Amino acid sequence: MDVIVKQGNVTDEVTDALVVSLFEGTTSPGGGTGAVDRALDGMVSQLIANGDIRGKLKEVTVLYPAGKIPAQRVLVVGLGKQETFGYEQVRQAAAAAAQRARDLGATLLTSIAHGAGTGGLDPAMAAQATVEGTVLGTYQLKNFKSNSSNGAGRMLQSLTILEASAEKMASVANGTEAGQIIAQATCLARDLGNTPGNIATPTYLARVAQDIAAETGMRIEILEQEDTRKLGMGAFVGVSLGSEEPAKFIVMEHNAGKADLPTIVLIGKGITFDSGGISIKPSEKMEEMKYDMCGGGAVLGAMQAVGRLGLPLHVVGIVPASENLPSSTAMKPGDILTAMNGKTIEIISTDAEGRLVLADSLCYAARYQPAAVVDLATLTGAITVALGNQCAGMFGSGEELKQHLSAAAQVSGDRVWELPLYPEYADQIKSEWADMKNSGGRLAGSITAAAFLANFAEGYPWVHLDIAGVAWTTTERGYNVKGATGFGVRLLVEMLRTWHK
Ligand code: BES
Ligand code: MN
Ligand code: ZN
Repeated sequence: MDVIVKQGNVTDEVTDALVVSLFEGTTSPGGGTGAVDRALDGMVSQLIANGDIRGKLKEVTVLYPAGKIPAQRVLVVGLGKQETFGYEQVRQAAAAAAQRARDLGATLLTSIAHGAGTGGLDPAMAAQATVEGTVLGTYQLKNFKSNSSNGAGRMLQSLTILEASAEKMASVANGTEAGQIIAQATCLARDLGNTPGNIATPTYLARVAQDIAAETGMRIEILEQEDTRKLGMGAFVGVSLGSEEPAKFIVMEHNAGKADLPTIVLIGKGITFDSGGISIKPSEKMEEMKYDMCGGGAVLGAMQAVGRLGLPLHVVGIVPASENLPSSTAMKPGDILTAMNGKTIEIISTDAEGRLVLADSLCYAARYQPAAVVDLATLTGAITVALGNQCAGMFGSGEELKQHLSAAAQVSGDRVWELPLYPEYADQIKSEWADMKNSGGRLAGSITAAAFLANFAEGYPWVHLDIAGVAWTTTERGYNVKGATGFGVRLLVEMLRTWHK
C-alpha cells in the first residue's frame, strides 16, 4: 500500500473512502468530522442524535455524500470513551475502518490522523498509529492456492493521511513516514512467520537478512554450522543435528563500529520448524510449529525498521536459525551439550530446543559489551496457560530495561507482563550429571525456561520475552488478522526510538 501525507481539507478530498472519527458521547463533532458534518448539512450530528452513531470503539458508519463533497463515501469510526483513549485505540479504529472500506471495494483511502485534534495525542504518534492500524488491519495473508486472487483481490492501493493544520503538518508527515516503515517491517515479520517451513528455512532467513543488510548498509555475518562448532556453541549445534537443512547463525549490525553509540542486542529464536525432535510432539497442530521462528522474524523486521529509520544506536540483531527434527544423527534425551560459556546441559527433552539456541546466542551477545540485550522467543506452551493470547511474558535481570519495555509496550500495543524469576525456581533445572538440565517439568514451565536462559545472559542487563501466546492468531483479532502477528517489531522499535529519553 502506498502511504501519502497531504495538507488539505476533508471536504475537498477526492477519494473512494474518507475516514473521520469521534468519541463516544460526542454530540457535536469538531475537527475534520465537524467539517464533514457541516458539508453534509448536519447528517453526522443527526445520526448521533438518533442514536445510530454512538462512537463506540471500532463502530463504523458509512455515509454517502451524494456529491456534497468529492469523497465517494465517508466512514465515521468510533474511538470509544475519551478516558480510555490512546494509540492502541487509534490502531484499532483505523483497522476497523480500513477493513470496511476494503470490503466495500474502495482502493483509495483518505484518513485524518485519529486523536491528533480533540483527542490530544501527539500528532506524529497519532499519524503513525493510524498508518499502522490501516496497513496491519488490511494485511493480506500470503497463500499458495493455485487459483488464488492473491494480490488481485480486494485490496487498498493507497492511504492518504490528511492534515488541515499547517503547524501540525511537519509532525504528521514524520509520523506517517515512521508508521509506514514500522508497519512494513511488521508485515515482513508476518510474511516470514506465515511462510511454510519447507520454504522459510534457515537459509531463507539468512537470505532475507542479507537483503535487509544490503538495502540499509548494515554489516552482516552468517555463521555456518562449522563456524559455530569452532566457537564452542555446542547447544546451538545440537539442535540441528537431526536435520539435513543447514543451520545459520545470523548476525546483523546497524551502525557497526561506531564506538560512541550505545549497543543494544536483539536476539530472536529462529526455529523454522519444531517437530520436537526425538522427543517428538503430538501431531495435532504440529503444523503451527512453522511459527517457531517468529522471534527471529520480529528481530529481522525490527532491524529493517532500525536501518530505514536510521536510528542513532549500535543495534545488533542475532537470529539463531535451525530446524528441530528427529533422525539417527539427532541429539537425544540424556545427551550432554556444552555451551559457548563452558556450561554443560543435560538434555531431558529435545523439544526444549529454543533455550538451547538462545543459550549460545546470549553468550555470543556478551562480546559486544551491550548496554542491553532483549531476546524474543516462542519458548513455551506454558506461557499461553499463564497469560493466554493477550500479552507476552517478560523476565529478566535488567530492572530499568524492564520498565522501559513496559512503557514501550503501552505505546506500541505489543503488551508485556512480568513474571518472577525467584532464585528457587532454578532448583527445578538442577541436573545429576551436568550444570543444568534443559527441562524443569510441568510446573512454572515458562519461568524455569527463563531461569535456564539466565545462566547464559551474564554481564549485561537482559530481558527475555516469551511470545508463544501472541506470535500468531488463529482467529481474526482487529488489526491482527489470521496468521503471524509480527509481535515484537513495534515494541522493539519503540524501545529503541525512545532509548535516550
Ligand atoms: N516451540 C515450543 C513452544 C511452543 C509450544 C510454542 C506450543 C507455541 C505453542 C518449544 O520449543 C517447546 O516445545 N517447549 C516445550 C518445553 C518443554 C519440553 C520443557 C513446551 O512448551 O512444551
Ligand atoms: Mn520445542
Ligand atoms: Zn520450539
